[in-house]
Amino acid sequence: MAQTEMIAPPGAREDWTIPQDWAAYTAQDHAMWDRLFARQTQMLAGRAVPEFLEGLDILRMTRPGIPDFAELSDRLMQRTGWQVVAVPGLVPDRLFFEHLANRRFVAGRFIRQPEQIDYLEEPDVFHDVFGHVPLLANPVFADYMQAYGEGGLRAHALGSIERLARLYWYTVEFGLIRQDDGLKLYGAGIVSSHGESEFALDDPSPNRLGFDLKRLMRTRYRIDDYQQSYFVIDSFEQLLRMTAETDFAPLYAQLDGLPDLDTDTILPTDRVFTRGSQAYANKKKE
Ligand code: PHE
Ligand code: FE
Repeated sequence: MAQTEMIAPPGAREDWTIPQDWAAYTAQDHAMWDRLFARQTQMLAGRAVPEFLEGLDILRMTRPGIPDFAELSDRLMQRTGWQVVAVPGLVPDRLFFEHLANRRFVAGRFIRQPEQIDYLEEPDVFHDVFGHVPLLANPVFADYMQAYGEGGLRAHALGSIERLARLYWYTVEFGLIRQDDGLKLYGAGIVSSHGESEFALDDPSPNRLGFDLKRLMRTRYRIDDYQQSYFVIDSFEQLLRMTAETDFAPLYAQLDGLPDLDTDTILPTDRVFTRGSQAYANKKKE
């Protein structure tokens, strides 16, 4: 997201997609994927929601090397009708929503360099594909992503994409889900990050609060560091129901009259799973 110019960059198609050019990856590129893949799958066993791990299997992402988007799209298409397409970087919001609304997930094709293994500023193919694609094999989550894209087009017309972006952030990127045996990870920003996979679930610092659509759309987020609050859904069905079946237009209007909430705020009405110590965030401020 976050680009306003709508003219496609040189070499890109009108919808900003480019060929993945899979053959151009070097042995080093594939080795980087394999290294990240091994490290994350080890970390995520028992931490990620089962549907995420199943997605890796269903889509045969467990084979070594950076996945070929054409092959991945074939499998995904059979399963849920989604495709993965390559883009040169961030795409304009409206175009991003339009791709999602048409069941196309836009992914970066470059892979991070060894010195960026733990932190990078722009999403690479590991974040985009390892992080986002497995859940697109889940029919309910797949529907949520499409509905989100349609909602984005509406929000764009209503001038409320900032509110809607928060929903993406706190679900698709940084969401937690409640299971019988405790909280699990499903957000792509978490599952593709070694540090945050541990932090989001096990660290006493962040708040873990029950998902509440209106509250969440008032909440700011951090783009520079681990989140100070995570929101917990009960199931993907619940997430889909609470978003797709709600008309957001009146919500946006209501929210315009309410102040934003800070990244660490806990309200008396919140369902609190963890009251975070915020020790991590406070230490960074010193
Ligand atoms: N129901 C939302 C609207 O009326 C669209 C939406 C669906 C947004 C799913 C996010 C997720 O705009
Ligand atoms: Fe992402």
